[in-house]
Amino acid sequence: MTIITRQNGREVRVLPPLARTPEHVAIIMDGNGRWARARALPRSAGHRQGTDNLRRIIRAAVEFGLRIMTIYAFSTENWSRPRREVLLLMRILEMVIDRELQELHDEGVQIRHIGELEGISARLAQKVMEACEYTRHNQRLILNVAFNYGGRDEIVRAVQNIVRAGIAADDITESTINSYMYTSDLPDPDLIIRTSGESRLSNFLIWQGAYSEIYTTETYWPDFGREALYEALVEYGSRRRRFGKTDDQIKAEYAQRDHLRERAI
Ligand code: FPP
Repeated sequence: MTIITRQNGREVRVLPPLARTPEHVAIIMDGNGRWARARALPRSAGHRQGTDNLRRIIRAAVEFGLRIMTIYAFSTENWSRPRREVLLLMRILEMVIDRELQELHDEGVQIRHIGELEGISARLAQKVMEACEYTRHNQRLILNVAFNYGGRDEIVRAVQNIVRAGIAADDITESTINSYMYTSDLPDPDLIIRTSGESRLSNFLIWQGAYSEIYTTETYWPDFGREALYEALVEYGSRRRRFGKTDDQIKAEYAQRDHLRERAI
């Protein structure tokens, strides 16, 4: 994927510019446990490596010009894992906030939380809210952290709030429902990546992902680095998104877009 150029007499490997960059990429960071097992290490070691990799991927997302990234860090189903592992994932989130917040802020990352703070310790919930508040004016990358998040749960809560708001059944449209989702002010994910060879959404962004391109890779999350993300973005660039239209309609739209772009240049 890389091309080799020379800078100040030294050879450097650079990634060529992307043909089409998705605006919103969502990631199911899967395979920490299997990464650890393959090395005869405890699962906790996999989660730690996964956390290190998350740092790399956030940096790469900024470098590649993504505007929004949503990561699945803890699902509503993850509560059924052994208590020790649940506590470890909670501790990891707290540690990430404690150690990385300032750097993420300096890089222009706006942290948002999607999911429920209910059920999480008051101390962690407070830290999550403070991290969101502290970074809320940053514009470079919106990082949605799905923590204690479930797609069905999100839809149930949206319906409950619509009923509470007294909206008449006949007035409910897709955009009404959308406006009650955690991501109401954001575009849907263009691309959902899942690592470790699984091809399921597992209750992640099931409303928002209706038209997302899905990219899966055998690579376990701790090994899914900057170049792997780049490869996923290249693959995305080669997909033709149809949104239910015919191929001819899409070709015409692409031609029109290219025409407008050429005129703008
Ligand atoms: C899936 O791997 C991963 C998770 C459930 C947690 C993802 C967490 C991180 C990448 C660390 C960063 C976390 C936070 C909170 C910011 P798995 O354990 O299901 O792996 P397996 O399927 O191989 O067992």
